[in-house]
Amino acid sequence: MAEDSGDTVAKTDLGESSLERNAQARRRFLRGAVALASGAFLLSIGIADKFFRFFFGPRLSQSEEGELLETRLKRMQETVALKQLELERQHNNYIFVAELSDLQATTGKYFIDYELRPALAFVGRDGVPILLSAKCTHLGCTVGNQVNERNQVLCPCHVSYFDIETGKPNPGAPAKLPLEHISWVLMNKERRIIAGRSADGKGTGNLSGNYPPDTAVYIVKNTESVS
Ligand code: FES
Repeated sequence: MAEDSGDTVAKTDLGESSLERNAQARRRFLRGAVALASGAFLLSIGIADKFFRFFFGPRLSQSEEGELLETRLKRMQETVALKQLELERQHNNYIFVAELSDLQATTGKYFIDYELRPALAFVGRDGVPILLSAKCTHLGCTVGNQVNERNQVLCPCHVSYFDIETGKPNPGAPAKLPLEHISWVLMNKERRIIAGRSADGKGTGNLSGNYPPDTAVYIVKNTESVS
């Protein structure tokens, strides 16, 4: 009888320790599952964030978003303005540059030529317009519009001086070629051509330098009208 009861105690102990082991295993499993789920959740947030940033860019503050929108709007306006210039040049044989009376000998007026390059308009000492490309023949910077005492304008990028009458660069300048002249005409207030000069220097009409008020300067698409 005593042996039986010993066996029963041993069996009970064995049963309890097995139950305890099972409970521990379940706890370990649950802890592992919770840790795994948390890791997956955190990982998914990180991936979602990367995904969002990849497609939509970094998250911006309100003021940064405002600045970004302004920059985009400015770019769009510049593109529209450029397209308008392009269309205007495609459809017109003459493009208005300035009233002749508004041109000066020492400060050039910038305008855009038929090739959509920056250009400069002056009035020469003889009262006749001078129109030149303002795109430096070295590496393409825009030359300045102020004329120095030698009748030159400066390209500030690598220091080339160009004579505004001939377009030629100073000796030893990085630029080796002259600035191109641009064909122009003068029109009176009835929009009749009274004078003109082509890019290669051929003149037509009254080139005396004495013009009526309201004379306006135009660039010309078709240079036949000035030769
Ligand atoms: S781009 Fe004008 S000097 Fe170089």
